[in-house]
Amino acid sequence: METNKIHNISCLEGLKLLPDACVDLIFTDPPYYQYRAQNVQGLKNHKDVITEFDFDGFKSEEEYLLFMEEVLAECFRVCKPGASGYLWCGDDFVSYLNRMVERVGFQFRKVIHWHKTNPFPAIYTRKMYANSMEMMVHFSKGKPKTWNHKTVNEMHNFIHSPEEYSNRAETDLHEIPNFIQTPICMGKERTKHKTQKPLKVCLPFIEISSNEGDLILDPFMGSGSTAVASKMLGRNFIGYELSEEYCQFAEKRLQEIV
Ligand SMILES: C[S@@+](CC[C@H](N)C(=O)[O-])C[C@H]1O[C@@H](n2cnc3c(N)ncnc32)[C@H](O)[C@@H]1O
Repeated sequence: METNKIHNISCLEGLKLLPDACVDLIFTDPPYYQYRAQNVQGLKNHKDVITEFDFDGFKSEEEYLLFMEEVLAECFRVCKPGASGYLWCGDDFVSYLNRMVERVGFQFRKVIHWHKTNPFPAIYTRKMYANSMEMMVHFSKGKPKTWNHKTVNEMHNFIHSPEEYSNRAETDLHEIPNFIQTPICMGKERTKHKTQKPLKVCLPFIEISSNEGDLILDPFMGSGSTAVASKMLGRNFIGYELSEEYCQFAEKRLQEIV
């Protein structure tokens, strides 16, 4: 199947066309299934508390979890031994998904937290905390084969234009913390995709867990953030996206990288 391309098909269809053990890293941001919006009395129909997305139309928790397990089992098959994976998820499902990655054969490694420095404001009359954190499950197929160490400074002031990136300063070595702090997607980077991840939360993890020339898989490409970050870092990519419109956003972003 052609690489360095986002295929406009369901990932369940696309993953089956990939051979065993061809992928070096998975970096993906699937639909979260807005469980609370649909199941918790009082929040139902409160569009100001929970945003509903048209790509998140699972009928039940069971349907969502079965879908995710089918995708993750295929991800395990297509990963090379030692490949890492990063899976964004909503706070309702993080513990389900870290057990699920183990059930399909991966090792669960850590939950990584993204602190959004400019979250959408909470409606204070609803007595809710602002949704300023998102989580990502890190897992691997056996012991990770790649670990390009980063400093705390690099993680938190991560720079992302190709020019800035090649001029970055090397600083001293520290433990890599399991959180990253950066604003939500803004400015010129932002497309009309409602849940676009900023490149600043993609680049460091792709760089840590893969090498130049590696193949990065994202079954849920959306506006193509994983593909753009992979291309900027000299990695190859392959991915799937159901929406033709989002594929077009991604294509435009990819063309803008020199
Ligand atoms: C959370 S968004 C990903 C956003 C992406 N990280 C970005 O930065 O733009 C999830 C995407 O998965 C797509 N999607 C949902 N089900 C899919 C499926 N079965 N196969 C491929 N894509 C799917 C949706 O259309 C949506 O764009």
